[in-house]
Amino acid sequence: MKTELAQSFRRLEYRPPVYTFGQVELDIALDPARTIVKSKIEVLPGNSFEPGAPMVLVGQELEFVSLRINGEAHRRFELTPETLTIHSLPKEGAEKFTLEIISICVPEKNTSLMGLYVSNGNFFTQCEAEGFRKITYFLDRPDVMARYRVTLQAPEAQYPVLLSNGNLLKEEKLPNGWHSATWEDPFPKPSYLFALVAGKLECIEETITTSSGAKKLLQIWVEPHDLQKTRHAMDSLIASIHWDEKRFGLELDLERFMIVAVGDFNMGAMENKGLNIFNTKFVLAQPETATDADFANIESVVAHEYFHNWTGNRVTCQDWFQLSLKEGLTVFRDQEFSADQMGSESGRAVKRIEDVRLLRQLQFPEDAGPMAHPIRPDEYQEINNFYTVTVYEKGSEVVRMYQTLLGRDGFRKGMDLYFQRHDGQAVTCDDFLAAMADANGKDLSQFKNWYSQAGTPRVKVDGQYDAANKQYRLTLTQSCAPTPGQAEKKPFHIRLKVCLITAGNDQVEQLLELTESTQTWTFDHIEDRPVLSINRNFSAPVNIDFEQSEEDLLTLLSSDDDPFNRWEAGQKLAMQMILNNRLPDSALINAYREILLDPNLDPAFKELALTLPAESYLYEQCKSVDPQKIFAARISFRKELAKQLQLEWAALYQQNQTPGPFKSDAINSGKRALKNLALSMLLDADPKIWAPMARNQFQIADNMTDRYAALAALVMHGAKGAAECLEDFYKRFADDALVIDKWFALQSSRPPVEGLESTLNEVKRLREHPAFKLNNPNRARSVIHVFCANNPASFHQADGSGYAFWAESVLALDPINPQVAARLARALDRWRLFAEPYQSKMKAALEQVAACQTLSPDVKEVVSKALG
Ligand code: ARG
Ligand code: ZN
Repeated sequence: MKTELAQSFRRLEYRPPVYTFGQVELDIALDPARTIVKSKIEVLPGNSFEPGAPMVLVGQELEFVSLRINGEAHRRFELTPETLTIHSLPKEGAEKFTLEIISICVPEKNTSLMGLYVSNGNFFTQCEAEGFRKITYFLDRPDVMARYRVTLQAPEAQYPVLLSNGNLLKEEKLPNGWHSATWEDPFPKPSYLFALVAGKLECIEETITTSSGAKKLLQIWVEPHDLQKTRHAMDSLIASIHWDEKRFGLELDLERFMIVAVGDFNMGAMENKGLNIFNTKFVLAQPETATDADFANIESVVAHEYFHNWTGNRVTCQDWFQLSLKEGLTVFRDQEFSADQMGSESGRAVKRIEDVRLLRQLQFPEDAGPMAHPIRPDEYQEINNFYTVTVYEKGSEVVRMYQTLLGRDGFRKGMDLYFQRHDGQAVTCDDFLAAMADANGKDLSQFKNWYSQAGTPRVKVDGQYDAANKQYRLTLTQSCAPTPGQAEKKPFHIRLKVCLITAGNDQVEQLLELTESTQTWTFDHIEDRPVLSINRNFSAPVNIDFEQSEEDLLTLLSSDDDPFNRWEAGQKLAMQMILNNRLPDSALINAYREILLDPNLDPAFKELALTLPAESYLYEQCKSVDPQKIFAARISFRKELAKQLQLEWAALYQQNQTPGPFKSDAINSGKRALKNLALSMLLDADPKIWAPMARNQFQIADNMTDRYAALAALVMHGAKGAAECLEDFYKRFADDALVIDKWFALQSSRPPVEGLESTLNEVKRLREHPAFKLNNPNRARSVIHVFCANNPASFHQADGSGYAFWAESVLALDPINPQVAARLARALDRWRLFAEPYQSKMKAALEQVAACQTLSPDVKEVVSKALG
């Protein structure tokens, strides 16, 4: 019974380890029902050692078998469900000794997908953050770095491939059809980077030569039937390796680098040393089965995990409070990589807009809600709940600010010093900041507030033009709303790129440093009233509070030379009109038309500029959210846009076809994005006229982007033929799990459509579908999370039926997989923002979940903080 009070871990309570490990030898006999793990560990006194100190190892769901010290059976120990405490160590623990432990785990019963588990008959591991303790008793903390030598044994017929970290030392045949493989990782690593894989897998491989002239073997391992879907991941890996050499001077340090794909996985992927394990979703792609978004995601996740080899593995985190040290930095690196892959400056801007849009849709709400935390949290109950958009995406924005501040070269100097100082160590966010500061001779002390304070800063803008003196005075005032545990905030160091746009068009960009609560700048010799373009390229992750006139916003939308702010002006205009329940006026329609017809703009940019702000972003602008009113206003606005520009949409649809062999590059995917936005707009304008064109596209498409977009347009609009196309789609792709996930997700994300039954009823039917599996995270998410988190208008029903479904689903998932359940639990985070009757019904659903006596620590933390 887990009824005790929740335990909190605190950053300031960090103590270095009492003991530490040198060499670790693991001998693992794989059996789904009973895997025997023998460890032989060299133990040394750690930095907090005191003579006579007992050694406390952690273990979870393990059957303890035996313990030996220096070869002798040892009896002075205590076992609890989660610890093994060893007393009476030789020489009071002051000198090196050898520990041998035998324990047993049961991979086939492991539905949490942490530790060692079975997926489709093969073995996989996931150890970050604290999964290694489900494999053997250990010092399972990132600041204990050891050298691993791993021998895997298994029946050869069922498990022909045996993989672990590092280099393959030997393979042997054993009696009774068993075989073994021994792997050695030359680099010391924390246990969270350990991995093993065993089963019936095949690989594609390539040999490449890296900057120092060394030959490296690259492999991508998948189930045999997926082999032809690995090319894009391999190309992405090779591009990532070359990019990291060029941009940061970082070379692959192992002879062999492997990626393995698995269909059951909690997150996106994992950077285990030399043996990355990936959700199949981020490896497998072919034009017929993967969309342009899938191709782009694969490229960025492959890069992300590869980049971790330096930022994460060579230099790792001292403790889990420092998670953003590796994640924020690595997201920044993968964003920069993907931006460079776009192939042009305008392509880079498109990538920037996409990244910021994600940040504002997901991270800003988190930062304003009950789970708000600094990028370096001070407290957690369950670390798995802190793999958040704050730690990752806001963490990346904070790293980006160093680069804005120091320039690319200064940033590179800081990175070089960081590796020079800390290679092979487990360090903190402060160490990273110190390297950036010292390498550039800068005082970055105020910059630390970005690490310690939660909440999105708000910058209030007051701009006054003094025509008599030809002066423009700009006053900026920063504030940050209270967040849990932080009532008062100190001012942040905020760097804002600004530009005064005048009729003469003499645009000079400047960088303003806002370090106090309020500051004023005066600009001289401004001949005409300027239009202020502020926070260009989103130079700081803040909310700008600026009552800019519609006229000025239209000027920015049509002529700002910063593409980000051009996009931003359009978003702001649309947002204000939607929130005021207005339709787009002729001035805005004309501005949109000009953008659509401008031959100098990328199709990808046009698509972004004409896509309306998401409902979740609109919610954050309100004091009290009525989700149905916002939905209705947004839909009417969109319909008007569709109708007023119907001719343009029809022309764009024709002009942006991509004939010839499929290419997933920025230009072609941008064209498809714009064409498919046009298609969906046309169905908004008149489903009767345009549905046949969507059905035709669905039938003749030679790639998933176009086929799926056509299907989505039909389904989202409840158009004629939607049901038949859905059925056809299912039949075509019945044995492709990732495509069937799309089929489920599409139906779960349909907004309310007049005359159709509620999406909730549809979702309940999907849950009974023979292909639905609650145990598989991708499938569960494609139905349940999509409905609860990505389909606001269907989810937020005044009768509370969506919330009841949510509560039931959280409680059903929690005993199977606490991490997947806890993510779903977050869907009600912002309940206090909603108007009645929504708010009370959400609260009741949260209370219903909180009342469950057997909640996992994961879900318990989320719901108790939501209600707290
Ligand atoms: N380090 C991984 C990544 O960002 C994420 C692993 C998180 N896994 C977890 N169970 N919390 O690439
Ligand atoms: Zn990562």
